[in-house]
Amino acid sequence: MVKKNACIFISGFGSNLKSLIHKSRDPVFPIKIKLIISNNAKAVGILHAKKNSIPYLIINTKKRTYENLIFKEIKKNKISIICLAGYMKIIPKNFIDKVNKKIINIHPSLLPKFKGLNTFERVLKKSEKKTGCTVHFVNSMLDSGKTIVQKSFYINQNDNLKTLKEKTQKLEHLAYPEAIIKIFRYR
Ligand code: GRF
Repeated sequence: MVKKNACIFISGFGSNLKSLIHKSRDPVFPIKIKLIISNNAKAVGILHAKKNSIPYLIINTKKRTYENLIFKEIKKNKISIICLAGYMKIIPKNFIDKVNKKIINIHPSLLPKFKGLNTFERVLKKSEKKTGCTVHFVNSMLDSGKTIVQKSFYINQNDNLKTLKEKTQKLEHLAYPEAIIKIFRYR
């Protein structure tokens, strides 16, 4: 099986990155992680890049040249798919158009509900019965592209911010690889 080259964008902890690295060791998992990009030099997730000897790049989004740097790397590494995994910057429309690759994201809610930040707080405040996570294609609007995979669980009375986050992330680590398999299944 010829694997597609992937680039993972992170900003923080990198638990989704870790699970994707783990999955990508499976010979039948459709991607190989060629590059990790972080906009945060202190992102804990960078440790996963180092531990697994995966090249990584730290970008400074305040610099005008940062997009060109990414384009160059994406071309050089023959990247077919960009996976946003806790990347805390909005991807500008001109970037999406110019890069012209599949870009997918994972969000900790049942989209279209609770787009944006502080999802768990808002889910609890609204006394939702269910919550979960969504892997979706990225378009120019925040958390709005077509859904690829969604996973949910029922919230119980004892759930709080911490338990919601834990339960959601557990599902995320299943949903993200599943979405990638789904995208490349018929290609
Ligand atoms: C995840 O909950 C994801 O849904 C959101 O950011 C978080 C990243 O977590 N976009 P991690 O860095 O993968 O641990």
